[in-house]
Amino acid sequence: MNILGIETSCDETAVAVVQDGRRLLSNTIVSQIDIHREFGGVVPEVAARSHIEVILPTIQKALTDAELTWGQIDGIAVTHGPGLLGSLLIGTLAALTLALLKNKPLYAINHVEGHTYANFITEVGSIFNSQFPISKSLPLPPGQPGFPLLSLTVSGGHSQLILFQDHGGYRLLGQTQDDAVGEAFDKVAKMLGLSYPGGPSIAKAAEAGNPLAYNFPKAKLANPYDFSFSGLKTAVLRHLQRLIGEDYSFPSFEIASRLSQQQINDTAASFQRVAVETMVGKTLAAYREFGPTTVVIAGGVAANSELRAQLQEKLPIAISYAPPILCTDNAAMIAARGYFTALAEKPSDPLGLEVSPSLTM
Ligand code: KG4
Ligand code: ZN
Repeated sequence: MNILGIETSCDETAVAVVQDGRRLLSNTIVSQIDIHREFGGVVPEVAARSHIEVILPTIQKALTDAELTWGQIDGIAVTHGPGLLGSLLIGTLAALTLALLKNKPLYAINHVEGHTYANFITEVGSIFNSQFPISKSLPLPPGQPGFPLLSLTVSGGHSQLILFQDHGGYRLLGQTQDDAVGEAFDKVAKMLGLSYPGGPSIAKAAEAGNPLAYNFPKAKLANPYDFSFSGLKTAVLRHLQRLIGEDYSFPSFEIASRLSQQQINDTAASFQRVAVETMVGKTLAAYREFGPTTVVIAGGVAANSELRAQLQEKLPIAISYAPPILCTDNAAMIAARGYFTALAEKPSDPLGLEVSPSLTM
């Protein structure tokens, strides 16, 4: 079964074709990072306009790359939430129009659920392999994860621990109470004068820094599986203001120019250590309490190599990871999730499909 996935919830216009929920036939991602970089973050109106400009050619490219015609597509899966309203509208409108025109079943996918399904992609199609040499080095997991499955989903909008019993049923063990962890990476990077998106910039600066240079507090929450990163972000801000001899009223955007490279690197490394320790600590505690068969990490922050290394070191079971290109926003994960939805549920009515910017799990 070939599912065409469409993802436009934030600043990536992404379309992919996945066969049987595991084989990647094409994976097209048009990133707007360069456009938003000059603003230091995503501008919703700009994101929606950019999606409009590229959505149709992106869909066409995904089909061409997969060397498939519409007749060989068995269903369309689209992200209908959560995300930015204007951005979601472009992908869902394209998907529902194509579902009607091409007479294909339509599946509405929750973006956060979708992230976990990046870990179900274990093969690339032969066409993909010959056309895109990069895919030869795409380090895919050796097999699909088994259930029960514990997923640490950490992105720019979400920090969640989810226990999947099977494809249809899961329990949300805990979630972000304020800032998501990726958001904290992005905001701390901004304070340090590092470029957007903050995650990769912090990770790079941290390589040259001392992770033990500074200590920052970890939030204590009633539910041990919930997350809160806004206190950590504020603690970093206060530390930086102190470092340059200013008080709490000093504007965050004027700090970076007064920091030495070593102070930037040490702050990045210390912040990353505390953020990673928090994520690893909660994942380990959930592993001990619920004894899942497999553990996966998902979402943009799952690309963080320090998080990967620490988890592997602390967890008593082997853990495999989706390649970074499938951790950040992509449509392959939406198509993979769509396949399992198609096996279990009736398709959505295209005319009744609604976007849901604050869709929860
Ligand atoms: O999943 P994603 O592409 O979009 C959302 O659904 O939010 O995640 C984007 C987030 C950004 O906050 C970005 O800074 C973070 O993932 N990120 C990373 C890394 N790569 C991306 N955070 C830490 N380390 C990384 N290597
Ligand atoms: Zn995402």
